[in-house]
Amino acid sequence: MPHHPITIANDIYFIGVFDPDIRTFDIVMRTANGSSYNAYLMKTTEGVIIVDTVKKEFQDDFFHHVEALCSYDEIKYVIIHHIEPDHSGALPELIQRAPNAKVLISPQATTMLKALTNSEEINFETIWTNKQLVLGGKTITFLTTPYLHWPETMSSYVHEDKLLFSGDVFGSHYYDKRLFNNKVGDFSYAFQYYYDHIMRPFQSYVRSALKLYERFEIELIAPLHGPILRENPYQYIDAYKQWSHKVENNKGSGKKILSIFYLTSYKNTQEMAQSIFDGCESVEGVVANMYDLASIEAQNMIAILEESDGFLIGTPTINADAPKPVWDLLSCLMFLEKQGKCAGAFGSYGWSGEAVDHILARLKSLKLRVPPLTPLKIKLIPSQSELEECYQFGVEFAEILNGKLVEIDLA
Ligand code: FEO
Repeated sequence: MPHHPITIANDIYFIGVFDPDIRTFDIVMRTANGSSYNAYLMKTTEGVIIVDTVKKEFQDDFFHHVEALCSYDEIKYVIIHHIEPDHSGALPELIQRAPNAKVLISPQATTMLKALTNSEEINFETIWTNKQLVLGGKTITFLTTPYLHWPETMSSYVHEDKLLFSGDVFGSHYYDKRLFNNKVGDFSYAFQYYYDHIMRPFQSYVRSALKLYERFEIELIAPLHGPILRENPYQYIDAYKQWSHKVENNKGSGKKILSIFYLTSYKNTQEMAQSIFDGCESVEGVVANMYDLASIEAQNMIAILEESDGFLIGTPTINADAPKPVWDLLSCLMFLEKQGKCAGAFGSYGWSGEAVDHILARLKSLKLRVPPLTPLKIKLIPSQSELEECYQFGVEFAEILNGKLVEIDLA
């Protein structure tokens, strides 16, 4: 149901739309409280600036809000902080309706903009950190905030209103038409859930964005989803600071953390894991831990993987493949920053032992650092000499984790 444009700051309005019924977003996120696609409109004495648009299926409501505030001829600029379709769906139609509008996007978004509009004839300009738009009493500084959570994502700051347009950063999938954080219900679960699923894989980029934001005094944060943060915005900034530094805080000791996950049917892979663990533990500067994949929750896997500098996966082979809990562990990697982590695999098998090769191939395709050690596969029960091999494998892997130079094929 269309609603009236809502003022969020001096001459700045919310023209976004509500999607109360959505229950799954981007396939992987559950949205018990629905969501919103936030967009904004800024009036100035020299023309109108539109800030982001909405999902295509809601564009009628979006245009209704625009028309309540201005004529299309007045629109001088359309700032697109993020070109994912939930925010750019109405852009092709907006370009048609607003003949004087110039689209402002990051350089990384240009090919996507052309693909989105299927046109080479778009009036656009690229923007990046420190570029400014000054129009009719509003001064906007653009901030490049890549990988939050696409390569092209941007934020911007309106100086006169101390307002941060943050993009998906600080967003929540949480529909509440009362809109402002001091009016809506308790959305803290949705705020953290959004961080965990969207921002957590890019924690180092979160830290860079927070550094950029530090240059400004912020009174109001207007994200692309969920409540607008006008009461104590620094509470949300501080939460991001804490979450994005969590890994470093947990380590503290300066030692490398090596996690050994295993799944075992007849304790053979478990015995291998134990000997590898003993080998790892013999290397100074490395702390090893073991986890049985048969009894571990996904959230705990994510947390353990996140704080690990390296990890090993022990898997039996069943019907020429690794069993589901092993693949579940690998699927957790999409929720964390995995660059630079060292990884490997091992396992006992009965017939053919393909599981270890499958897992190694997957680790490589995920661009993890897979040391070129001989694949550690043992038929059925490990003998004493094979357990010694496992011990040596653990020593070697831990030394590589510790900085021993080896050539690692990252392709
Ligand atoms: Fe809300 Fe990344 O789109």
